[in-house]
Amino acid sequence: MSESTHEIPVVDLNDLTSPQSDVRAEAAAAVRRAFGHYGLIYIRNHGVDIDLLEKFYDAFLEFTSRSEDDKQKMSTPDIWYQRGWTPPNTEKAVVAGGQPDFKECFFITPYEPADELKQQYPEIYASNIWPENADEFEGSYTELSRQLQQVGVNLLRGCALALGLAPQQFEAAVDGGPHVTRALRYIPLDDEQVDTDILWGEEHTDFNFLTILPGGRFLDPSGERCSKPDPDAGLYLRTRPNEEHPNGKLVQGQTPEGCIVAQVGQQLEIVTGGEFIATPHVIEAPKQPGYSRVAMAHFVHLHAHEQLFPLEPFRTDESVRAYGPPKMVGTYNLKTLIDIGLAPKEAFDRLGYTQYERLDKIRQEEKGGQEEMGGQEEKGGQEAGEPAE
Ligand SMILES: [Fe+2]
Repeated sequence: MSESTHEIPVVDLNDLTSPQSDVRAEAAAAVRRAFGHYGLIYIRNHGVDIDLLEKFYDAFLEFTSRSEDDKQKMSTPDIWYQRGWTPPNTEKAVVAGGQPDFKECFFITPYEPADELKQQYPEIYASNIWPENADEFEGSYTELSRQLQQVGVNLLRGCALALGLAPQQFEAAVDGGPHVTRALRYIPLDDEQVDTDILWGEEHTDFNFLTILPGGRFLDPSGERCSKPDPDAGLYLRTRPNEEHPNGKLVQGQTPEGCIVAQVGQQLEIVTGGEFIATPHVIEAPKQPGYSRVAMAHFVHLHAHEQLFPLEPFRTDESVRAYGPPKMVGTYNLKTLIDIGLAPKEAFDRLGYTQYERLDKIRQEEKGGQEEMGGQEEKGGQEAGEPAE
């Protein structure tokens, strides 16, 4: 089913900042090839502490084994689940016909957001919350989140290089963004669910700028760590469509030893006018019942005040048609969180005129006044009211 996966390029993160220009150029070319066709790259010398990641997974599994009541205390529908615990079957992929994913998650942000942004976007710039008696969980998770953010920033320098932009252009655009790290536990399938259409993660593209995936751990039905129980389980991506494969081609991700993965999100596709492609990907569950998996994803976001529109060098009639109109990242995030089922539909109301109730109240009061006065003042409502827009 898949083309040979070693075609997906590997980049050494150090090469992107090498003093030797030919080394830098070769690394940038790998980024260009990887993100232009697959939307995914393998990263060597990433700087993420994998021992710490393993310690974190132990702490995370301790948390997920807590009672439903305990975990519910960490659930935050009021901030659209952007921090703390997301129960299973909450989030759904946009194109999946509404089938929720079989996973539970815990979200944090690597750095405390600025007060101004917390006020403007209370959900996507919320402060972290932590479970009780979970020091190891909090300490290791925060550290990993920051390391993953740094991988993203370093790789973004390579992306700018690959696209002929100023080296700091992307790095500056994500500074202060509503970045989130998500720890996930994919729920085991039972006998009846195995071999059905149920997936651990339905096909979707990530909506952020760049996603960093440091790797996960499979667990057997007794909860013990195990190797991959089914060679076909795990992540598949769909390549950019071309003449040979008009719908793209499904490729199974097989991360080389010692590497981690980075993926292009929709925000990066939009600002590059489609030069980089946000890759559709899907997570296949093993075909054996009872197996679960823990994993982590770090989502680097553009700053909420950035504009989402092809940058000048990538602006063509076609890209403007495909990615217009220009949008503000914060409002784009709001809409997408509604689409994937985390934010309520009413959140849309904040994007339009919001003072209908005020006008209505004034008009009702005036109507009451007129009735009291026996309807003598004919035009009062018109004059006191505000324009409807
Ligand atoms: Fe994803």
